[in-house]
Amino acid sequence: MIPSVLPTYSRAPLSFVKGEGAWLEAEDGTRYLDLGAGIAVNALGHAHPALVETISQQAAKLWHVSNLYRVPEQERLADALVAATFADTVFFTNSGTEALELAVKMARKCQYAAGHPEKTGILSFEGSFHGRSIAAISAAGSEKMTKGFGPLVPGFTQIPWGDVAAAEAAIGPETGAILVEPIQGEGGIRPLPDADMKTLRQLADEHGLLLIFDEVQCGMGRTGRLFAHEWSGVTPDIMMVAKGIGGGFPLGAVLATEAAAAGMTAGTHGSTYGGNPLGCAVGAKVMEIISDPSFLDAVNRTAGHFRQKLEGLVAAHPDIFEGVRGQGLMLGLKTRVAPADFVKAGYDEHLLTVPAADNVVRLLPPLTLGAEELDEAVARLDRAATRLEPATAGA
Ligand SMILES: Cc1ncc(COP(=O)(O)O)c(C=O)c1O
Repeated sequence: MIPSVLPTYSRAPLSFVKGEGAWLEAEDGTRYLDLGAGIAVNALGHAHPALVETISQQAAKLWHVSNLYRVPEQERLADALVAATFADTVFFTNSGTEALELAVKMARKCQYAAGHPEKTGILSFEGSFHGRSIAAISAAGSEKMTKGFGPLVPGFTQIPWGDVAAAEAAIGPETGAILVEPIQGEGGIRPLPDADMKTLRQLADEHGLLLIFDEVQCGMGRTGRLFAHEWSGVTPDIMMVAKGIGGGFPLGAVLATEAAAAGMTAGTHGSTYGGNPLGCAVGAKVMEIISDPSFLDAVNRTAGHFRQKLEGLVAAHPDIFEGVRGQGLMLGLKTRVAPADFVKAGYDEHLLTVPAADNVVRLLPPLTLGAEELDEAVARLDRAATRLEPATAGA
């Protein structure tokens, strides 16, 4: 018999009743160290006091009014995002998938408004993940996500990951945009080198294309800069944000330059819940905390220590790990064992990690991870690795 909850997830047999910082408490009181942070969502950890206070105060005042009216909390968050980034304007969504939908619509409408209605094509990359709507799975294109769900949205062409020469070769008269995650998350913590980011920008400029960055997973301080693309010095025309921006409250956004947003006039897009006062009040507080340079400095310090210790861990367990990659606190351990087996061994050590493609285990801790928690995390990763080592190892 089908369960009452549609069985689309392979869930671990764990459930939690409480969270505090980087810790989650299971029903039986066992504490788990959380290096997954709700898949890069709980950027400030669980039950951050400032977020609890903000959401409680806003909940007592006003939750929802619709976008028929001005929403001051929305304007405050949009102003902060515009002030801190390449963007001139922001639309709020409830998720990363919705941000993808708008990014695609915006790019096509921009080309249309500029007199290029034929430029509907979007180049995307193999191994990418942009969500689960029909457009989002069409963008990613993998058989795993698309099989049985056709017909897909036409116009997407997948390029092998990081192959910018193939991207250039694929540009034709109908190409209108390039869509890329600066660091692939689900694809296995695969950063696009700065030189490739620059080449994509050049290609976009030469061919009149919009460059769309999906920073749903790698954005909001995760890499040690407010947004991951800042490391490369390259800016997009359109950017998708979600996950960390709400600190656990469902919130997403599309940021764009004025030129990219030129076609998005009144009536061309909307959302009932997007940009509601509750979500935007939380988002504004998250933004205030994460965009503080001293907060990002601390993320980089933690990340530096973590990276160093992970290199040591890899060296100590050559049968289990192949290497470590990523940037900031968006890290991946490339494993020689099945990532799911490592994640399971982590559960046995009361440690939460997240599997990804390309034989990678993701480490996406709260950005607030403390020095003692970091040491504890490494100790538990070490014990999890030992559990998977052949019995004869070290004998
Ligand atoms: C890079 C990226 N884009 C888009 C999405 C989709 O976001 P959501 O699950 O909030 O719809 C995700 C989710 O994992 C993601 O990692």
